[in-house]
Amino acid sequence: MVEDPLCNPNKPLKISFEEITSAAYKIRSGVLNTPCILVLLILEVSYVKFNRDGHLFKEGFFYNKREGNFKERGARYAMLMLNEEQKQKGVVAASLGNHALAVCYHGYHLGIPVTVVMPIMAPIMKIQKCRELHANVIMEGKDMNEAKKIAVALANERGWTYINGYDNPQIIAGQGTIGLEILEQVQDIDAVVVPTGGGGLLAGVAVAIKTLNPSIKVIGVESERCASYAKAVENQKPVLTTIEGTLADGLAVPMIGYNAWETSRNLVDKMVIVKEKWIAVAILRFIENEKCVVEGAGACGLAAILAGQLEEFKGKRVVLILSGGNIDTTILGRCLERGLAADGRLIKCKVTVSDRPGGISELCKLIGSIGVSIKDVKVVCETRDYIHSLELRDLLFSRYKKVRLDTIPSKPAITSTTD
Ligand SMILES: Cc1ncc(COP(=O)(O)O)c(C=O)c1O
Repeated sequence: MVEDPLCNPNKPLKISFEEITSAAYKIRSGVLNTPCILVLLILEVSYVKFNRDGHLFKEGFFYNKREGNFKERGARYAMLMLNEEQKQKGVVAASLGNHALAVCYHGYHLGIPVTVVMPIMAPIMKIQKCRELHANVIMEGKDMNEAKKIAVALANERGWTYINGYDNPQIIAGQGTIGLEILEQVQDIDAVVVPTGGGGLLAGVAVAIKTLNPSIKVIGVESERCASYAKAVENQKPVLTTIEGTLADGLAVPMIGYNAWETSRNLVDKMVIVKEKWIAVAILRFIENEKCVVEGAGACGLAAILAGQLEEFKGKRVVLILSGGNIDTTILGRCLERGLAADGRLIKCKVTVSDRPGGISELCKLIGSIGVSIKDVKVVCETRDYIHSLELRDLLFSRYKKVRLDTIPSKPAITSTTD
């Protein structure tokens, strides 16, 4: 059964360069009326800042969008191309977050009713933002594939237009406009590194770049936990891939798109699979060195560099597409801890100290003497007796707001063994 007439496995479409330029034109006219699209932020930074790890890349160029991610390019183009009846009836999309956000944002501004189906694993921040944009948000499906089935069924049932976030031809063309902008604004590029989920961004950018300058290498990058493009390369067609929870939640698509594959298969020079650890380190580097919050998906390009998987580009001019910055604060906290641990800057240690009062204080002083701060302490205390334990409990609760203590029994166990 063909689920989405625009993404037919038996008749995959190859997106053309002309479609991308036409998307660029259409979105540009939208830019004039829509301040949000004016906020494309391009940072050109010296790569030296990341040289701690010994990398010799001369420069990196980063793309980011203030409102959080690049997906609005395709979403706006696809929505502008709807006919009046489709616009009135409304659209439905399935997404882990960024495509949903883009459709909600532009649906709201273009007056098109929007429903988004988000899998239950979608990040809270993205769900919340969609709700704030007055969209009908349905949280259903354990992953993207399930959410997509629900969205397609709703489209058929209610007469809404389904907009696939990575395989709809107009979405691919819209994302491809990033490739045009890179070439307009950056000279003498050797390679462009593209975070890859369903493959729409990679396909669009690859067509734009290779058409205008075939000597530039186009490199896709994905997490080891959702390597669905690499799996397609292995099988020479899109296939279902097992995915696990990843810091690059925006890339967690179990199967890349048929059109995305057909369009990009002969244009991608290399596919890199990065380990989660490096994604965490990359997020940390962006914050520490660039004061820039990049979500896991967007940080994959730098992760590949830090992991030494793009060594052949040492000394070359490499463009990284920082595709998004929407990350839950709790996840960001965890990423930073993981990044610090991977850097060897977060150390867990277990020390046996003197059991005399003052033993711990001596340890704290010793650690502090070399400028190390203690993040967390776990102590095992030996008290004189049950009453003493209660005294300790009361003391801790009176002094600290957050205390976790083993349960002290409501009465002491039998202490005498003489009877
Ligand atoms: C931040 C971010 N980067 C990259 C991608 C990958 O885009 P695509 O699914 O078109 O490969 C996504 C997809 O949602 C994303 O959210």
